[in-house]
Amino acid sequence: MKNIKSGIFKQLKSPALKKSIPFHMPGHKRNISFAPYLKELSAKYDITEIQGYDNLQCPNGIILNAMKNAQQLWNTMHSFLLVNGSTCGILAAINTTCQPGDKIAIARNCHKSVYNAVELLNLKPVFIHPTVNNELHICGSIDPLELSMIINENNDIKAVVITSPTYDGVISDISAICTISHENNIPVIIDEAHGAHLAICEGFGLSAVKSKADIVIQSLHKTLPSLTQTAIAHICTKRINPDRFLNSLSVFQTSSPSYLLLSSIDCCIDFLIRNQEKINNKWINSIDYIDNEIASLKNLFAFYHGTSKNRLYDSIFSYDRSKLIISVKNTKINGKQLFDILYNDYNIVLEMYSDTYVIAMLSMCDKLSSIKRLIKALHRIDNMLDGITSHNREFTYSSSVLPEAVMRIRDAKNSKNKIINLEKSEGHISNEFVWAYPPGIPYLIPGEIITSDIIVQIKKAIDNEIDIKSDFDHKKDEISVIN
Ligand SMILES: Cc1ncc(COP(=O)(O)O)c(C=O)c1O
Repeated sequence: MKNIKSGIFKQLKSPALKKSIPFHMPGHKRNISFAPYLKELSAKYDITEIQGYDNLQCPNGIILNAMKNAQQLWNTMHSFLLVNGSTCGILAAINTTCQPGDKIAIARNCHKSVYNAVELLNLKPVFIHPTVNNELHICGSIDPLELSMIINENNDIKAVVITSPTYDGVISDISAICTISHENNIPVIIDEAHGAHLAICEGFGLSAVKSKADIVIQSLHKTLPSLTQTAIAHICTKRINPDRFLNSLSVFQTSSPSYLLLSSIDCCIDFLIRNQEKINNKWINSIDYIDNEIASLKNLFAFYHGTSKNRLYDSIFSYDRSKLIISVKNTKINGKQLFDILYNDYNIVLEMYSDTYVIAMLSMCDKLSSIKRLIKALHRIDNMLDGITSHNREFTYSSSVLPEAVMRIRDAKNSKNKIINLEKSEGHISNEFVWAYPPGIPYLIPGEIITSDIIVQIKKAIDNEIDIKSDFDHKKDEISVIN
C-alpha cells in the first residue's frame, strides 16, 4: 500500500478523512458496521455484464429481481436501477415525456440536469418560480396555484418537472401539483434526489411516490446506505410507458454498469426491507434527541429543529427533518465561518454553507458519537457568540425579477459570443447560465435578456460572497453575451 503514489488514493487514505465526522453525502457516512455489504463491495466483485449476470438495459434475471424488490419497498408500478445518479434518470424522464422542441414547465430552481435535458431536446421551458422565504433565506415550495395559471396560459405543455425536497429540505404539495397537471393530462416528473428515504421512513414528509407523481427519481447515495452514484427511478402511474423509459435510460446510462453499484442498490433495498421499522424508529429517536439537545442554543438557531420543531414557516408546505440547517443570521459570523470552525476545530465536515446558514445532512447511518460531537461543538460555538450584536443580512434572490427569454437555450449557447463587463450588459442576450449557490437557482439562462434588475442582483450576490457559477472562465464581473 505504501508505494501507491496516486494522489487521489493518497488523499483518500489520509488520516484527516479517517478522523473527520461526516455530516455530508453519501448517506452511508462511511459507517461500514451499519450495513455489512458496504465493507464487502470491492474489486473482487467488480465485474460488468458477463454471462449469467443479467443486463441493465434488458433485465430478466438478478437485476429484474432487484427491480421487483424496489417496487415492493417503495410501492411503485416499476422501479429502475440507476448507476449514473439521479442525473441520468432525470434526462431519461424528460426524454420519455417530451419530443424535441416541445414546451415544458419546470421549477426555476431545478437541478442542472433538467436544464441539460431542455438544451439537448431544444425544449421551450416555462418557468414556475419557487416562493421565497425571506426569514430563512431559502426558496420555498412551489405554489400549485402558480402552476395552475401557467397550465391555463400554455395548453401545449408536455411535462411538469419539480424538485421536492430541495437541497434545503423544502417539500412541495405534490398531490395538489399532480391533481392540477393530471386534470390537463400532463405527466409530472419529481426530482426527489434528496428524498429516497421519504416513502420508506415515517416522519420525514410525504414522498412524491405516495402522491402518485408519474416519474420519481431518487439518489440512494444521498440519504440511504448505498454507494455514490447509485439511484433509482420509479414509475408510479400508467401515463408512462416503462419500455420507452427503459429505452431512454439506455441513452443516458453507461453500457458497462458496475456490479458494485448495482449490488449496492440491491443490498440497500434488501437491508431496508428487512430492517425498515427498526431503522425508522432509531433514526427518529436520534433526530428527537438532537432537537432536545439544541433547543437551548441562544445565538445559532436551527430551522425545523430545536425550539422551531413544530413551527410553520411562510411559503414552506412541508419539510424533511433529515436536513439540519443551522442559521447564523443573528450572529456576526457567516455560514462559511461556522462551516470552517466546525471543520478546523472539531473535525466535523458539513454538507454546505451559504451566507446565512450551514447544512448538516443527517442519516440513519450517523453514529451516536458523531451526533454528540456535533451537538457539543454547536453549544461551544454558540457560547462564543454570546453578546455579539446581530448582523442584518439580506437574501439576494428575488423571484419577482423574471428575465424575458428571446431564444432557446440550445440556440443561444450555439451562437457566437463575446465576453463583456456585467455593468454594461443591460439589453444584451445572455450566452451562458449564471447560477447562485445557494439557493442553486439561475439568475440568467442562455437566451434571456439581461435587465438592470438582474445586474443589481448578481452584483449584490457577488458582494455577499455568494458562490456565483457561470459557464465560462471569465472574471466575476464579466458575462458572456451573444455577439
Ligand atoms: C436537486 C438535485 N437533483 C438532482 C441531482 C443529481 O443527482 P446525482 O448526483 O445523483 O446525479 C442533485 C445533485 O446534487 C440535486 O441536488
